[in-house]
Amino acid sequence: MRSKLVAGNWKMNGNLASNQALLKSLIPLLASVTRARCAVCVPYPYLAQTEQILRGQGISWGAQDVCEYEHGAYTGSVSAGMVADFGCRFAIVGHSERRALFGDTDAVVAKKFAAVLKVGLTPILCVGETLAERESGVMEQVIARQVDAVIAQSGAAALGQAVLAYEPVWAIGTGKTATPEQAQAVHAFIRGRVAEQDIRVADGLPILYGGSVKASNAAQLFAMADIDGGLIGGASLVAEEFAAICKAL
Ligand code: 13P
Repeated sequence: MRSKLVAGNWKMNGNLASNQALLKSLIPLLASVTRARCAVCVPYPYLAQTEQILRGQGISWGAQDVCEYEHGAYTGSVSAGMVADFGCRFAIVGHSERRALFGDTDAVVAKKFAAVLKVGLTPILCVGETLAERESGVMEQVIARQVDAVIAQSGAAALGQAVLAYEPVWAIGTGKTATPEQAQAVHAFIRGRVAEQDIRVADGLPILYGGSVKASNAAQLFAMADIDGGLIGGASLVAEEFAAICKAL
């Protein structure tokens, strides 16, 4: 059976006081969730705080991005090794906001993916199409290109230590969720693409859905055969909502 995961992506939200309140509320709310892993991906400055509050509590944490380089003269960047120092289990790479707003190309994302693996963390690789790409019929091409870049850099076997997240750009922060059938179709496509390289890796690869997941729509999405959990933005900032999504899985 594939492992199941719900990961919160806080994006650039929170402060010391609100994080403390959110994390402390999540601990009792998630205590009963034993068949799925729950994680929060927090802004870099709060990794130490998150580690301090969550260590030993059965909830994992991670970063939202890493630099593709290991160390050196890269002012303002944070390496995978640095986030690993704070007990992270996960690091997101290739989020559409990084791709669209900060210029992360497929090649850069592939290097970031390799950097995360190198320090022993689990990359959460995000892929997804824009509305224009979906409507013009190139959705599968775009997603294949995003997945293939990582396979070209690290090999298909490397996906055996990773998590994928399908996040249609048009569903992120818009309140417009992909239907379970739309999401399932793309998840099956991604799994098939990986299976062309390595069937066993494809079978074991957790593929999360992200894009306006809420407590009210999570169960229908998670019921689909190839949806193994969720990557949650806005709803991960509200303890009860995030906990309800984790319980739905
Ligand atoms: P929302 O859940 O706010 O749509 O964000 C999804 C996302 O981008 C998670 O990485």
